[in-house]
Amino acid sequence: MAQTWSPRSWRDKPVLQVPTYRDAAQLEAIEAKIQSFPPLVFAGEARNLKNQLAQVAAGDAFLLQGGDCAESFAEHGPDNIRDFFRVFLQMSVVLTFAAAKPVVKVGRIAGQFAKPRSSDTETKDGVELPSYRGDIVNATDFTAEARIPDAQRQVMAYRQSAATLNLLRAFSQGGYANLEHVQSWMLDFVKDSPLSHRYSELAGRISETLKFMKAIGFEAERYQRLRETDFYTSHEALLLGYEEALTREDSTSGDFYGTSGHFLWIGDRTRQPDHAHVEYFRGIKNPIGLKCGPSLGSEELLKLIDILNPDNETGRLTLICRFGAGKVEDHLPALIRAVEREGKSVVWSCDPMHGNTVSAGGYKTRPFERVLSEVSEFFAIHKSEGTYAGGVHFEMTGKDVTECTGGAKKISAEELGDRYHTHCDPRLNANQALELAFLVAELLKSDRP
Ligand code: PEP
Ligand code: CO
Repeated sequence: MAQTWSPRSWRDKPVLQVPTYRDAAQLEAIEAKIQSFPPLVFAGEARNLKNQLAQVAAGDAFLLQGGDCAESFAEHGPDNIRDFFRVFLQMSVVLTFAAAKPVVKVGRIAGQFAKPRSSDTETKDGVELPSYRGDIVNATDFTAEARIPDAQRQVMAYRQSAATLNLLRAFSQGGYANLEHVQSWMLDFVKDSPLSHRYSELAGRISETLKFMKAIGFEAERYQRLRETDFYTSHEALLLGYEEALTREDSTSGDFYGTSGHFLWIGDRTRQPDHAHVEYFRGIKNPIGLKCGPSLGSEELLKLIDILNPDNETGRLTLICRFGAGKVEDHLPALIRAVEREGKSVVWSCDPMHGNTVSAGGYKTRPFERVLSEVSEFFAIHKSEGTYAGGVHFEMTGKDVTECTGGAKKISAEELGDRYHTHCDPRLNANQALELAFLVAELLKSDRP
């Protein structure tokens, strides 16, 4: 990897999962326009997140990452963002309390628009059309026209990301995330669920503690840590032309940062060491993720680590493992041992979603018990290897959708059609996400010294 890197050096490499636009001149004009737009995040924020992830790598913090599989233009609204943020805060409180460690909060939001697909085309009733590749590329409607990649959508994705991020910043710093509101983060439809008691009880204990702290002089008005939270954004940086247009040189360090989000990751389908995505990622200084699926061997992983984190910087690289329930044991120990043997510093995170997609009742779904089982296997293996299970990565929403089966409300395959709204993969609904947080909390508690 002696060749010089530039934000566009990926263009000389083979690239997968990136659409072909019909009008090359229009695409170039749009990329130039995006290049003239303000960055969405700052290098200093990405560095702060990297420092927090370094704490995770050291076993002193826990990573919670989650959000939509694919954000959509149609569902862009304040309620969706608020409901997601609320359930995410609830989950992080549950996990912080259990782990007795800070929880690093990273949303799959404000930029999670481009989707890799296992097939280039989709066939319905004998009609074959190009696949939907996320709202930043084309539209979901099953018509030839809707599926044509439209570069103008990149501008819409940028603007939606900016608006979403603006509200998230307001929520995290403007008082909404104040711990004194811990009781009010309960969503209405979660109120009558089996989880509401558990959450209310926990929130009650936190409120009591805060009252006590206030009495001795530590009130939220005076202490920013109680009043505000750090919330970061992330997405799969798949559409490299868009990412390149938002890659900026940081004036304080002279380093390049992807400014479309704080944390960017490489998908399981685009992690070939000599291909374009790895080339792009090696040059940006953000904290980054690498999805590790069943086809990743330990030698290839070490090669990727050398390319992506040659200085073995702590907090730079998060390995997001997604093998599928029942398969973690076949793959994870070898990867852990290789990483340990070579003394590489990584954050180990578990994505229990992408290896557990099945069909039921005519829908793509994920059984809650398999999701939980993959997380438990991940924790058990880290325990036996003596390494730290540092985080979880979920596809989830704050809405009461019916996309994953099971959970405390026992959603059946027959009920999936009731509120199946995802644009891509099935997400945990707010109840299931919170329930999973409580179950992960048990695992964290049992790991506590
Ligand atoms: C995703 O996170 O939405 C995704 C496509 O994951 P993976 O690359 O692990 O399949
Ligand atoms: Co997905």
